[in-house]
Amino acid sequence: MTMNLDQYFIKQQPYYRPVADEVELYEAAYSVRMPMMLKGPTGCGKTRFVEYIAWKLGKPLITVACNEDMTASDLVGRFLLDVNGTRWQDGPLTIAARNGAICYLDEVVEARQDTTVVIHPLTDNRRVLPLEKKGELVHAHPDFQLVISYNPGYQSLMKDLKQSTKQRFGALDFNYPQHDIEVEIVAHESGVDRSTADKLVSIAERARNLKGHGLDEGISTRMLVYAGSLIATGVSPTAASRVALVRPITDDPDMRDALDAAVTTFF
Ligand SMILES: Nc1ncnc2c1ncn2[C@@H]1O[C@H](COP(=O)(O)OP(=O)(O)O)[C@@H](O)[C@H]1O
Ligand SMILES: [Mg+2]
Repeated sequence: MTMNLDQYFIKQQPYYRPVADEVELYEAAYSVRMPMMLKGPTGCGKTRFVEYIAWKLGKPLITVACNEDMTASDLVGRFLLDVNGTRWQDGPLTIAARNGAICYLDEVVEARQDTTVVIHPLTDNRRVLPLEKKGELVHAHPDFQLVISYNPGYQSLMKDLKQSTKQRFGALDFNYPQHDIEVEIVAHESGVDRSTADKLVSIAERARNLKGHGLDEGISTRMLVYAGSLIATGVSPTAASRVALVRPITDDPDMRDALDAAVTTFF
C-alpha cells in the first residue's frame, strides 16, 4: 500500500544557517537510522533544521504537532465509517513508516505518555509498528526515520518523557545562535540591514539574561525575525520591538519597563 507522497517533499532549499556540526551529526545519525531528539527552547531553529535536513536527504517529511488530546489512533490510524462500510485510514506515523518518510513529532512532551509509547517498537531494532485494531504489523520502510522535538524548559514532573522513551533517541542540543550568526539569520529572514539586526539581537540577549529572574522564556530568534519583518515594512524599530519582542513575553509592568528600556538603549 503506497500513496502519493508528493505533498510531503520539500521542493525548495530551506534557508538554514548551521550553528555548529549539527548537519553532519544528523546525517550520520540518519545513515544508521538512529531516532533523533532535538532539544531546545521554542523559536530557536529546530523546525527549520528538520525541513532543511529532509530537503538535503531528499526524503519526504511528515510533521505532527503534538498535543495532550492526541491519542495513539491520531498517530497510527483508525477505522472510518463511510457509505461502503468501514475502511482503515493510516495515521501520519503509519504513512511515514510504510513509505520511508521522516516523521517529525513536534513538542512530543505535550502528548500523553500512553500515546508516546506507540513509537517504542519503531525506535528499536525491530522497526515495526503494530496496528492493533487492524491486526497488521507494519515493517518500517528502510528510509523511515523518527525525529522528535523537546523543549526542556517546559519539563515538569507531570509532563516529561519516560526514560524508556528518551533512551531510544540520540539527542542534539539547540539554542539561540551566537551573536553574529543570529544577526545573519535575522537580517536574511526579515530583510533588515545588519546594523538593525545587530540591535535586535542585542535586545534579545538582554532579555535572555532575565530568564529565571521573572521571565519564563527569553526572546527567541523567531520573535526577532517578526520584529525585523515589521521594521522592514516601515514600522519604527521601537514600536516593532514592543509589539514583537516585549508585549508577547510578559504582562508584568516592571518587566515590560525593563525590556522597553533595553529597546530604547539600542534604538
Ligand atoms: N539556524 C537557523 N537558520 C535559519 N533560520 C533560523 C535558524 N534558527 C532560527 N531561524 C529562524 O527562526 C524561526 C523560528 O525557528 P523554528 O525552526 O520555527 O523554531 P523551533 O522549531 O525551534 O521552535 C525560523 O522560521 C527561521 O526564520
Ligand atoms: Mg518548531
